[in-house]
Amino acid sequence: MHVLLLGTAAGGGFPQWNCWCACCRIARRDPDAAFPRTQSSVAVSADGHRWFLLNASPDVREQLTRLPSNNSVPAVRHVPIEAVVLTDGEVDHSLGVVLLREAQCLPIYCTTATRSILENDSRFLTVARAFTTLPWTELRLDAPVELRQRDGATSLAVEAFAVPAGAPRFASVSEPGHTVGLMVRELATGRVCAFVPGCGDLSPSLLDRLALADILLFDGTFWSDEELVAAGIGARTAREMDHVPVAGPGGSLHQLAALPCRHRIYTHINNTNPILLEQSPERAAIEHAGLTVGYDGLRIQI
Ligand code: MLT
Ligand code: MN
Ligand code: ZN
Repeated sequence: MHVLLLGTAAGGGFPQWNCWCACCRIARRDPDAAFPRTQSSVAVSADGHRWFLLNASPDVREQLTRLPSNNSVPAVRHVPIEAVVLTDGEVDHSLGVVLLREAQCLPIYCTTATRSILENDSRFLTVARAFTTLPWTELRLDAPVELRQRDGATSLAVEAFAVPAGAPRFASVSEPGHTVGLMVRELATGRVCAFVPGCGDLSPSLLDRLALADILLFDGTFWSDEELVAAGIGARTAREMDHVPVAGPGGSLHQLAALPCRHRIYTHINNTNPILLEQSPERAAIEHAGLTVGYDGLRIQI
């Protein structure tokens, strides 16, 4: 299985257009000290040629240029992804569906709760459907679903599982399944990549599930619970925004450090998070614990 991190920033990207926090200032002044990042999205593939997108970010156009180019494209128009799998209906995770409207056909995998948010609240599916067909496959919680390639073959399956989070703030209803994590399994080898870009808390049962992943891509939005408050940016804590912080009591770092996963990688990293600074003590703490701070273009084959 091939896993390619297309984007590793939280909503807004890095540096964020309207932000002059310490990290964004450094990123603008010295990109070698803090690499720029696009909004989080992952591509997975069994063969390195046919790719499935996990979330479709507002930066999808630029991100798709990172996929290995296919010189044997048989037609004038060719969509280089097989389908899009969505964790939720947040803008930074799903706007890319609208931006891919030039596709003649764009298969979508998501829960019914996310589908109804995309139909009725953001209306992203409604808008995109005016341009393209969007075959939908339902993701039920805790039930693996095969990911079908355009040629009909399957070599990966995906399982959605609920994670602690609120529905998007523009959602008119909050139904179970509005926010999930994904386990992508390669059918031939049983290898698993877990993608959890937003998670408000780590329960023992969730940790047991994540322990089964060979590659874990996890919510690295905030370093500390008070991060946005301390920076004078917001009034809500990380946990109140449904992102368990990396550090501090009950933080993700020491809990993920105990998992046996071969690769444990933070992604969906907010621009205020000091782990984005290549030389920061916070970055060193991540690496000392055996984890990795994801970056755009990071590719792993297992
Ligand atoms: C989040 O990750 O907290 C949400 O996607 C918020 C957003 O960026 O809109
Ligand atoms: Mn997000
Ligand atoms: Zn910033």
